[in-house]
Formats: sequence, structure tokens, C-alpha cells
Amino acid sequence: MSESVTAVHVVTIDGPSGSGKGTIAALLARELGWAFLDSGALYRLTALAALNQGVDFADTAALAVVATTLDVQFLPAEDGLVILLAGERVGDSLRTEEVGAMASRVAALPAVRAALLQRQRDFARHPGLVADGRDMGTVVFPDATVKVFLTASAEERAKRRFEQLHSKGINASFDRLLADIQARDERDSQRTVAPLRPADDAIILDSTQMTIQEVFAAVMVQMRLKGLA
Ligand code: DC
Repeated sequence: MSESVTAVHVVTIDGPSGSGKGTIAALLARELGWAFLDSGALYRLTALAALNQGVDFADTAALAVVATTLDVQFLPAEDGLVILLAGERVGDSLRTEEVGAMASRVAALPAVRAALLQRQRDFARHPGLVADGRDMGTVVFPDATVKVFLTASAEERAKRRFEQLHSKGINASFDRLLADIQARDERDSQRTVAPLRPADDAIILDSTQMTIQEVFAAVMVQMRLKGLA
């Protein structure tokens, strides 16, 4: 393992889509003043770049090349992060269901995961990193100081997504969202390489009945136990 992985504290927050891990990871990074890795964005960016370049999604070798040569910059901005793909600002297109579904497909390819491994580890820097994803605690940062696996029932996650879309004025079918979430869970947890699962030493939090504030407080308890907050 490289120096950069062991020399800084890493907190990993893994879990399925809609569990709230992205929100918690971003809040935690801000609270601590640490770096933040949204690893799902790298898989989404790989899918988006492949779509932009007209790459055939059945062509595994070409997708691995897209991941290896991904020209991406994460720039801090007032309202979060600005992401540049091949020098161009990526907007909401990254968060669409279409790109999410494509990301889930490219994420199942071992060559794509291998291509993105070091890139993810390179986010680790002093004083620490909060990394959010599916395999942060199991594969990318196995020596992380604190590992959290955040989950929630599929119905609750579909409900959150439905409400999020509704608040943006976007009409969606709850049943369709639930089916998409279940299909994505199935793909992410059944794949042979780096499947979605808690690390043996992860703290498992089920947020189905918890508010964001309650989850955040529970994570902070773990941070204090390790002397990190
Ligand atoms: O968290 P997200 O929805 O932005 O992730 C997009 C897809 O990428 C998701 O289907 C799972 C995959 N992913 C992964 O396989 N490993 C990660 N560390 C992060 C995301």
C-alpha cells in the first residue's frame, strides 16, 4: 500500500444509493476540513465520457481506456464542487438515472475498477479524507481509521429519491424508482469484483428510521472514539 494511503486518516462511508452516505460524507468532510472523495462520481464520469465519445458499452477494453484516460478535475466552489470533464463543466447530467444506470454497468468491469483504483487513493491527503462509495472500506482504503456502512430499506430510499425529484418539480413514478433501486442494488451487490458489502470492521448504520442529523451524530460518536473529533 502506498504512503499516501497509510499516512493520513481516512473515513470510509459505503452503502447503497439513497442511503444518505453522500450527504453524510460531504457534511463530515466540511465539519473536519478534510478532503472528500465521491467515488461514485468517477464511475458516473467514466459512463458519461463513454457516452460522449460514442463508445460501445459492450466494448469492455474501450471502456477501460476511457477510465484510464479520464480527464477530470474536481474544483472547490462556493456551493460544493465544480467538476470538469475534458475541460468542460459537468452539470446535472452526471446525476441522471440514465448515467447512474450506465455507471453501475461500467462499475461491474474489473478493468474499469483497476483503472480507477490509484486515482481514488490519490485523494488521500493531510489531515484526512472522507471517502464515499461502495468499496471504500473493503478495497480502496482497507486500512481506514473509521469505516461506516450506511444502509436503509429500498422503499425508504425510493421515497427519498421521489421526494427529491418532486422538490425539483420532476414527476417520477415511485414504483419505477423502487424497481430501479432494486435492480441497481442487485447489480452492485452481486457483481464478482468489489461487490457492495460492509467491511468486516465497519460500523453498520440503518438510516431507515433516522434523520440526517441522527446519522451524523452517530458517525461523530465513532470519530470521537478514535480521537478524530
Ligand atoms: O453512488 P453513485 O450512485 O453515484 O454511484 C454510481 C454507480 O457507481 C453505482 O451504481 C455503483 C457504482 N460505484 C461503485 O461500484 N463503486 C464505488 N466505489 C462507487 C460507485
